[in-house]
Amino acid sequence: MRERSVLLNPSILASDFTEIKNTLDLIASLDLDYVHLDVMDGSFVPNITFGPKFIRDMRKLSDLVFDAHLMIDNPEKYIKAFADAGCDIITIHKEATRHLNRALTMIRDEGKEVGLAINPSTSVLEIENELMNVDYVMVMSVNPGFGGQAFIPQSLKKIKLLDDMRRAEGYEFRIMVDGGVGLKNHIALKEAGADILITGEAFFRSSDKASFIEEMES
Ligand code: DX5
Ligand code: ZN
Repeated sequence: MRERSVLLNPSILASDFTEIKNTLDLIASLDLDYVHLDVMDGSFVPNITFGPKFIRDMRKLSDLVFDAHLMIDNPEKYIKAFADAGCDIITIHKEATRHLNRALTMIRDEGKEVGLAINPSTSVLEIENELMNVDYVMVMSVNPGFGGQAFIPQSLKKIKLLDDMRRAEGYEFRIMVDGGVGLKNHIALKEAGADILITGEAFFRSSDKASFIEEMES
């Protein structure tokens, strides 16, 4: 895996699922290492995508790092299923469980990397007690549920605060930002402290993906 200052993770939500093999091959051919998998349950968010079965099938097609973003209520019920399906990173939402510490511990116990996501209206301070237990914090810069939405600018302040908190405490989590990310905001996001930019529409709609990646990661 190459060392990069910032990583770009394409979200397959913006792709045609009937072309999934080509999509995974395309991402790998562009020398990207991760693919972002948006799991939606129609309860935590007003949309439904796919579950462990689809991920297990994709696992047979690709060696990319599977970055699963679970937008599902009570994720603790399904963490084992997603781990067994072949996810490498499992990110759950602070707002989706009453027992966040237990759910995060379940991911760690499955031997997977642990991600914690917060919705736009959730303050970074609300997850302060778990920052030492996670590998990734995902700042949602849109209300989760759909691709192609406009970036919410106050997300930048949250990223800066997280970056300050990790420096002050010596934490090692990486900051992911998800929603409305593209060429209009990537510089500000990196300056604020983001390490991983998730991008759906901007990536899949871009006609020259190699230059898009180069610009986003530069
Ligand atoms: C939104 C998803 C995002 C989404 C990003 O609920 O979590 O990962 O696919 O897509 P864009 O980049 O189109 O906002
Ligand atoms: Zn996502």
